[in-house]
Amino acid sequence: MQTVSDPQSLREQVQAWQKNGLTVALVPTMGNLHAGHLSLIDRAREAADRVVVSVFVNPLQFGPNEDFDDYPRTLTDDERQCRQQGADLLFAPGVAVMYPGYRHGQPYLATRLQADPRLAQTFEGADRPGHFDGVVTVVAKLFHLVQPDVAVFGQKDLQQYAVLEKMVTDLAMPVRLIRTPIVRETDGLALSSRNQYLNSAERALAPSLAQTLQSVCVRIQDAPAKSASILQQASQDLQALGFQVHYFSLVALPTLQAVIDPQMPCRDDGSEFAVVVAATLGQTRLLDNRILRLS
Ligand code: PAJ
Repeated sequence: MQTVSDPQSLREQVQAWQKNGLTVALVPTMGNLHAGHLSLIDRAREAADRVVVSVFVNPLQFGPNEDFDDYPRTLTDDERQCRQQGADLLFAPGVAVMYPGYRHGQPYLATRLQADPRLAQTFEGADRPGHFDGVVTVVAKLFHLVQPDVAVFGQKDLQQYAVLEKMVTDLAMPVRLIRTPIVRETDGLALSSRNQYLNSAERALAPSLAQTLQSVCVRIQDAPAKSASILQQASQDLQALGFQVHYFSLVALPTLQAVIDPQMPCRDDGSEFAVVVAATLGQTRLLDNRILRLS
C-alpha cells in the first residue's frame, strides 16, 4: 500500500486502475483509525476492486470553540492499520492541497457547498452551525480528487450520511454511497476517536447512553404511540446520571424529520426510522443511534 499526499500521484494511480476496468471505493476519514473505520475498509473491499482511504482533519467542519487543534493525529499508525486491513492507497493531503487559498493568514477554500438546510440545521447542525457545510464541501472535493465508483460512510454519523446522500442526489454525483453499521465496544459504547477524551469515571458511565438507547428502541417498537413519553423519560434518566442531553428523538429516514405520532406518520419510502441521541459527558459529546422499522 502506498501513501500519497499530492493529487497528481493519486489521479495517476486511480486512473491506472480504472483504465484496467477496476472499480474504486473511497473511505473518507479524519484519521486516528479505530475498528469502526476498519469495518468501512472491509465493506469497501467487498464493494469494489480497489480501496482508497483518505485521512484529512478538515478545519472547515470544526466550530471556533471545537477540538480542531486537539483532534488526535496519528498518521503513522493509521498507515499501518490501513495496510493491515488491505487498503490499496492512503491519500493524506496537506491543508494546502485541500484549502489552496489564504485569508487572514489562514488556509482558505473560497468555493464551498451548502448542505441542504432542512437536513443540516437540526440535531448536530443546530448545535454546530456550518458543520455540515464543511463536511459536504470537503467530501465533494475528495470525490473530485479520487473519482471513486463507491464511497463508504458509517451509520454512526447518521445525519452526516443523510446530508451526503442528499448532496449526491441533488448534484447528480456519479458515486454510489454505502452505509455501514455502528461498531461498538463490548459494553455497547459506539467507537469514536473522541472517546479518548473521557476520563475514567466518564468512561465507566458512557455505556449507559447505548444501553438507554437500546431499551428505548425496544419500548418504542412495542408501543410506538408512546414514543414521546418514552423518549422524555429516557432523557431525564440520562440527565440524572450526569449526561447533558442535547436531543433524543425518533426520526423518519432519509429526511430526519422528527416523528410526532408514529401511528399517523409522515412515513418516507420503506418506513425506516431511527432513534438519534446526542449527550455530553464532561467535555465530550457522544453520539449514538439505532435504526428501527415500525409496522
Ligand atoms: P471520521 O469521524 O474520521 O469518521 C470517518 C467515517 O467512519 C465516517 O463515515 C463515520 O461515520 C465512520 N465511523 C466512525 N465511528 C464509527 C463506528 N463506531 N462504527 C462505524 N463507523 C464509524 O466522519 C468523518 O470523519 C468526517 O466528517 C469526514 C466524512 C471524513 C469528512 O471530513
